Amino acid sequence: MLQTISTQPFLDQQPGTSGLRKKVSVFQQPHYLENFVQSIFDSLKEFARKTLVVGGDGRYYNRTAVQIILKMAAANGFGRVLVGRDGILSTPAASCIIRKNQAFGGIILSASHNPGGVKGDFGIKYNSGNGGPALESLTEAIFARSQTIQVYKILAATDVDLNKVGLTKLGEMAVEVIDSVNDYAQLLESLFDCDRIRELLTNGRFRLSIDAMHAVTGAYAHRLFEQRLGATLGTVQKGESLEDFGGGHPDPNLVYAHELVARLFGDNAPDFGAAFDGDGDRNMILGRNFFVTPSDSLAVLAANAKLVPAYRAGLAGIARSMPTSQAADRVAAHLGIDCYETPTGWKYFGNLLDAGKITLCGEESFGTGSNHLREKDGVWAALFWLNILAVRQQSVAAIVQEHWQMFGRNYYTRHDYENLESDRAHALIQNLQSLMPTLRGKQFRSYQVSGCDDFSYTDPVDGSISAQQGIRLSFTNGSRIVFRLSGTGTQGATLRVYLERYEPNAAHHRLNPQAALKDLIAIAAEVAQIHAFTARATPTVIT
Ligand code: G6P
Ligand code: ZN
Repeated sequence: MLQTISTQPFLDQQPGTSGLRKKVSVFQQPHYLENFVQSIFDSLKEFARKTLVVGGDGRYYNRTAVQIILKMAAANGFGRVLVGRDGILSTPAASCIIRKNQAFGGIILSASHNPGGVKGDFGIKYNSGNGGPALESLTEAIFARSQTIQVYKILAATDVDLNKVGLTKLGEMAVEVIDSVNDYAQLLESLFDCDRIRELLTNGRFRLSIDAMHAVTGAYAHRLFEQRLGATLGTVQKGESLEDFGGGHPDPNLVYAHELVARLFGDNAPDFGAAFDGDGDRNMILGRNFFVTPSDSLAVLAANAKLVPAYRAGLAGIARSMPTSQAADRVAAHLGIDCYETPTGWKYFGNLLDAGKITLCGEESFGTGSNHLREKDGVWAALFWLNILAVRQQSVAAIVQEHWQMFGRNYYTRHDYENLESDRAHALIQNLQSLMPTLRGKQFRSYQVSGCDDFSYTDPVDGSISAQQGIRLSFTNGSRIVFRLSGTGTQGATLRVYLERYEPNAAHHRLNPQAALKDLIAIAAEVAQIHAFTARATPTVIT
């Protein structure tokens, strides 16, 4: 039975960098999720009888939310929903399924790398028919709608059984429960030289270690690395998906994936390690005793793309988010292709990919991807690296060091000040904005400021403008400091300070990045008065 339920707006439903993310308890308020879902549907046009994809990373509240969304999709007139078994789809798998089935769009339930569980975070985002995150114009329309919403539509029905693959009906709407892994695994296998990767993984010498962080990629990683490519059982650690990610923080970086880091930097370390985040779109790549920064990873993948069957014909172009290091720009220049600089957020790559202007893209925030999907893709990145390793038969460290020899090294680090009082963080940014016009030409230690601006992006495809995307301080020697506030947190504000210095001389490529960037770190603190504004002596996370 179709029900039209009266409701009142919640005023805090503004999507951030990647969808709406809040504490689970916020989503559990009566009507909260329903309001947002109806605001999505009310902002879309002509979806009657079309197909919607639904799935999430399996965190706490995923099951409840999927049932609500199915009943609302039926009440709002969708013709068919494709839903992952048990309501599970990684973000890249959801993107794959939207594209493969030419669905109208999809709803992905995830708060990505934020902790889960009853006390953790939950999130929801809408992806369009190209498989990518909704553009800003749409997320703004959704937010505007959420502020005036009066009613939502939902079917009064019993829950759909999501345990088995198969077809059922919910009112007039077809519900197809699909295997969460199949289509995605097939797509990835079509891109890489799987025979050579299999040879590498089964030669008895090469050892691989994958950390799924008790999040969504467990099933995907078991299937691809162990079952399909022959890695020994046990290669995938923390492969069991848990609603609270085992109490961990499913963010694949040096701080939160510390067990994998300890393994790769310990005695008898494996040759290659990778970890993925809550919803499977982020990745961290490690070699034996070696950490590959996400910015370097993008540059190395681009420089070696011709070793991978799907990219053998060459790259159309590359894109990176503004705070990501300029290592990829050097590869693009060498290849004679364009390198685009976009604001933080995967959604900004969508138009460039759709228009065929780029093939690869990446972000410093542990995201890498290509035109095979419209989301970043963790497992894809690990397979890309394995393909390169299988062909080049060198270690990860040797490949990256050779890369630096050829292109120079962009020393890079990010300092995060998490959970700041929001007023303090905004005051710091405002102060920087007011300083901006005065900084050009100024000398700090051996660094001279060549420019300072608040990054504004004009999309080369649709001409839309995204302003105030982070303050850039550039120096005459190519170094940069970027300041911006995170758009993904759910508690207080997080200041991110991104630091980068270019070093052409191979004799100076083996420094610890914190040491290599010492002067810039001090300049950042001085210019932005970080300690005065944040009342913090040190960053909470350094990556
Ligand atoms: C999510 C988005 C990324 C973005 C990242 C950083 O993971 O999908 O595209 O780079 O958040 O966001 P933040 O605003 O926290 O720096
Ligand atoms: Zn994610």
